[in-house]
Amino acid sequence: MYTQALDQLPIEHSAQGDALRQQRFDQRMAAGRTVEPQDWMPEAYRKTLLRQISQHAHSEVVGMLPEGNWISRAPSLERKAILLAKVQDEGGHGLYLYAAAETLGSSREEMVDALLAGRAKYSSIFNYPTPTWADVGVIGWLVDGAAIMNQIPLCRCSYGPYARAMIRVCREESFHQRQGFDLLLAMMRGTEAQRRMVQGAVDRWWWPVLMMFGPSDTESAHSANSMAWGIKRISNDELRQRFVDAAVAQAEVLGVGLPDPELRWNAERGHYDFGAIDWDEFKRVISGDGPCNRERLAARRAAHEAGAWVREAAAEHSRKRASRPHAA
Ligand SMILES: [Fe+2]
Ligand SMILES: [Fe+2]
Repeated sequence: MYTQALDQLPIEHSAQGDALRQQRFDQRMAAGRTVEPQDWMPEAYRKTLLRQISQHAHSEVVGMLPEGNWISRAPSLERKAILLAKVQDEGGHGLYLYAAAETLGSSREEMVDALLAGRAKYSSIFNYPTPTWADVGVIGWLVDGAAIMNQIPLCRCSYGPYARAMIRVCREESFHQRQGFDLLLAMMRGTEAQRRMVQGAVDRWWWPVLMMFGPSDTESAHSANSMAWGIKRISNDELRQRFVDAAVAQAEVLGVGLPDPELRWNAERGHYDFGAIDWDEFKRVISGDGPCNRERLAARRAAHEAGAWVREAAAEHSRKRASRPHAA
């Protein structure tokens, strides 16, 4: 309680006050305590988090599209119900994350407008197409698998609202990964054509999934600050390596190959070595020129327009409620 009370003591607005606020923030970081919305924070910390959380929210919402494509064509009622639940979860993740980002001073409208205008980024992975049912399984297994690898360290992120949102998100992501693996296992135990379909999807998704961890540590523009601020706990390259090591064993259980001739166990490192990632492709896709970027944004814009009446009705409803005299 003592430290909490100390934090709330007003500090005068002056150069000395700024230094004191910065000092308290640094102490909080060093002690591994979370930063909450009412706490003072450096402007660069706030901006970095706002950028990361809003991009994360956009990724969840745009990420509903590639799999949503298969809800009406799922091969059984059971698979349809599972996929529907999974895609709804992703929408929910977007909502928690927009709410967390709002605590940093940006409105949901501003964030959504930036996405729809093409100014905000979202994960490059959702700009790839889903031509077969096996893509749904591979997204669950590899894309959600990579998301979990990225997101588990975020449960310990220094910003409280983000860390708490991630705890819930991660629980749901582990169901997503299992449903994908289960779907693929069923297909691998099926016909030769189904096995070929799975292999084709794995071949298409493997490299884009490795790109999900972001540029190599030496090239990553924001990594150093994010590590110092406790937003990021483990580097891009280390997370990517952990993912590859786990995926190789899972691919063996499934009986699928991974499309990398340089993938082999390195006993000295105690990890799998893997081939070079095509970073030019990553840059192209993240800057708007991937296979489905235009289609994804067009779908989001159409959904936003079609939902205008819902937003208007909700605003009108809350206006009416607010104007009603309070019930006894
Ligand atoms: Fe998600
Ligand atoms: Fe997911």
